[in-house]
Formats: sequence, C-alpha cells, structure tokens
Amino acid sequence: MRRARVAVLVSGGGTNLQALIDAAARGEMPHAELALVVSNVKDAYALTRAEKAGLPTVTLSKRALGGQEAFEAALTEALEAAAIDLIVLAGFMTILSGAFTARYDHRILNIHPSLIPSFCGEGFYGLRVHEAALRKGVKVTGATVHFVNEIPDGGEIILQKAVNIRENDTPETLQKRVMRLAEWKLLPRAVEKISTELVMRNEE
Ligand code: GAR
Repeated sequence: MRRARVAVLVSGGGTNLQALIDAAARGEMPHAELALVVSNVKDAYALTRAEKAGLPTVTLSKRALGGQEAFEAALTEALEAAAIDLIVLAGFMTILSGAFTARYDHRILNIHPSLIPSFCGEGFYGLRVHEAALRKGVKVTGATVHFVNEIPDGGEIILQKAVNIRENDTPETLQKRVMRLAEWKLLPRAVEKISTELVMRNEE
C-alpha cells in the first residue's frame, strides 16, 4: 500500500470534508487517498462537495435499510468494495455499534468540536457542543481528533487544538471560529498522520 484509501462519512454541510479535499489538492496528504464519501442523509450538501471533487459517493439510509444492523452491514459492504483502509467521521451524526468499531479498531477517526473530555459523549454534537461550552462559561474550547471505539467520543486522542472564547460569542460565531481555527486544520493533519502510520505498518 503506497497510500491509505480513506472513506469520509458525512451527514451535513461537509466543511470538514471540504478541508480534506482542499488539503489533498494542495498535496498535504501524500499518504492518503480520498476514495469514497458515504452519507446517511440523502440531501446532505457534503454529497455535492464530493461530486464536485469527483469523489465516488454512497448514500445509506438507516430507516430505509430497516435499522442499525442492516445499515452497518451495507456500510461494511460499501467500505470493502472500495478497499477502504481508514474511515473518517466528519460531521457523521450516527453512533456506530461496538461490533462495527471493533472491526475497524484504530482505523476510524472522528472530529469533535470541543477539547475532549469536556462537552462530549452522547447528545453532544454540532451546535449543542458550543451551546454547552458557553453555558458553562469556559474561556477556552477547541477541537479534538480521536480514534473511535465503542464509547461515544471515548477513543484515544490523536490531535487537539485550543480556541479562545470571546465575551460576545454566540454558539454560531463560536462554531465557525472553532471550525476555521481548529477543525479544518486538525483533520487533514490527523488523516495524514494515521495514513502514514498505516502505510509504514503495511511495508514492514
Ligand atoms: C463539525 O463541527 C464537527 O466537528 C461536528 O459537526 C460539525 C459538522 O460540520 N461533529 C460533531 O459534533 C460530532 N460529535 P461539517 O458537516 O461542516 O463538517
């Protein structure tokens, strides 16, 4: 393997997917190849971003497939068909089962918009994370990229970046700044780091 084949799993706007596409185009992820984008939401704007970048896409609806087990079976099939080495959850708003995460042990990354272990776990996603940080009155927040295991947001931390909170921040302004200053920088770096490790392990 010269480059790790990466699948990006999305549910929404896909700005983190865009950060990966742009980093790859700039040559900043030489050990990673974006090979597949999977969405669990059929009209997610992330799919448009993927199509514009010429990336293959798959949409899988948990409800249409009849539940978690069938969804994960279809997901596994799509990942295997594309010979995926590394899975990146980039705003993917579905919790994966322990059976699934064990199958891809240390081969699933997630980006979370806080400094884990603050404001994470079940119920903490998207804007809710920033609402909770502002409610608590913390002065510093940030983003974390971590491995995914059976505990929501509980896997080993790979990279973190802090972002200062401003007095007049709203959840929306804070979300935007955390994305711009932390998430969009961290995710490509983490993908390149883990892809390099996978490629080197494969060559041993
Ligand atoms: C990002 O802020 C990401 O960190 C967050 O959702 C947003 C998705 O935006 N993920 C979570 O909260 C996961 N628990 P995007 O679709 O524009 O990348």
